[in-house]
Amino acid sequence: MQRRSFLKSAAALAATPALASLTQGAAQTLPAIPTPAPHRFPQNFLWGTATAAYQVEGAVHEDGRGPSIWDTFSHTPGKTFEGQTGDVSDDFYHRYQGDVALMQRLGCKGFRFSIAWPRVFPQGTGTPNPKGLDFYKRLLDALNAAGIEPFCTLFHWDLPQALQDQGGWTNRATSHAFADYAHYTVSQLSDRITHWMTTNEFDSFIDGGYGSGENAPGLQLPRRELVAARHNAVLAHGLGVQAIRAAATRPVLVGLAEDISGCMPAIEDAAHIHAAEIALREENAQYITVILEGRYTDKYLRDLGPDAPHFTPEELKTISAPIDFLGINIYTTQEVVPAEAPDGYLIVPRPATYPHMASDWLFINPQAIYWTPKLVSSLWGVKTLYITENGCSSDDVLRPDGKVLDSDRVMYLRNYLAQMQRGVAEGIPIRGYFLWSLLDNYEWGSGYSKRFGITYVDFKTETRTPKLSYDFYREVIAKNSVV
Ligand code: BG6
Repeated sequence: MQRRSFLKSAAALAATPALASLTQGAAQTLPAIPTPAPHRFPQNFLWGTATAAYQVEGAVHEDGRGPSIWDTFSHTPGKTFEGQTGDVSDDFYHRYQGDVALMQRLGCKGFRFSIAWPRVFPQGTGTPNPKGLDFYKRLLDALNAAGIEPFCTLFHWDLPQALQDQGGWTNRATSHAFADYAHYTVSQLSDRITHWMTTNEFDSFIDGGYGSGENAPGLQLPRRELVAARHNAVLAHGLGVQAIRAAATRPVLVGLAEDISGCMPAIEDAAHIHAAEIALREENAQYITVILEGRYTDKYLRDLGPDAPHFTPEELKTISAPIDFLGINIYTTQEVVPAEAPDGYLIVPRPATYPHMASDWLFINPQAIYWTPKLVSSLWGVKTLYITENGCSSDDVLRPDGKVLDSDRVMYLRNYLAQMQRGVAEGIPIRGYFLWSLLDNYEWGSGYSKRFGITYVDFKTETRTPKLSYDFYREVIAKNSVV
């Protein structure tokens, strides 16, 4: 229902003397309005979709896979929505060929996926399981045949349970185990994969897993231990970068995928932009700032006091090992205004009426995909960026005519892509975009209650139904522009 309209009818406008000349025969006298340039992307812009192992694969007991912390967590009563697990999920392990065909029909040229550490090393370390890697070889062959470039994440939260039994990320040994796993995997697959990412979203698997406890392993540790786990995770990234380079049998490109805590100026003026830059650096001090700068910020260490991490200069050097590209996962952002010293910025508290998508954390702010990459490149001079995730949850309905008309997701994507185009046109070095997600899948603690796919999945029959947003994205890719 249209509740209110501020638009006056043409007749009413013409009745206003001052406006009459604008509405009567003005078209003959005014010069033609030039057609604006289409909102195009560069010719080699890489369009893709993204998934993660535990969220799509299923087949948790097949071919020697060991248990991960997400198996344990999701099978623990009360931890996930209605006790739902990733045991079967999209059954991608068996249906990957059909899903690669879905990507091909979409016109995608890139696919971001993750390798399940417990398929490769069922106990986290020790003897590798060749059958686990065989699955990824089959997948890579199918992608190659379809002309789709793989972007591989080595760790998307599914830590082998055996490592958690020894403390997980609170134990420094896990950082070294990760490097060994990375080394072995890259030695086996670098002939087929050029783009490697160490980890996905530190905050989600560290602060979510060991702080709030909403993600596996579901712990709520004292701050000092949480901070130590953060340090072990960034160290694992750095050791992983070194291991990937050492193991690769041909030139590869190394990066990571990070959901940088987004900060944007509430108003676009110099003072607000400056405040947003300060905020971005400080709000990400524990992860991307230390990785890109090789130091924790003074504020981070000061605020933590006795709980601050213990580290050596050598560790900081490892953590900040040079990377070739940075992947940013963009869902939302926070508005920043300038404030007094010592911080110099204030994150605006989220007003209650701020709009969000089906997930209550997914606040809609298309400028996120403009400002976060812009500030990252201006602050740290990053030369190659990928949007490694962007998308949204919607309350999708499979209609009796077999269609899913997710116009809200189309609205979300159209606006975010338009802002990304604005950034690319200005020279922000975004080289590609991976939409989250190709398929509805297991959304961690939310189970199957939140759908992020551009393809609807009936989890009883595993039937795939491309949604309206799939058609929209196919058009964007085909035209290489967004309007
Ligand atoms: C990102 C993750 O945080 O957001 C994905 O990398 C995840 O794995 C996506 O599925 C959506 O988040 P959530 O928590 O609603 O599943």
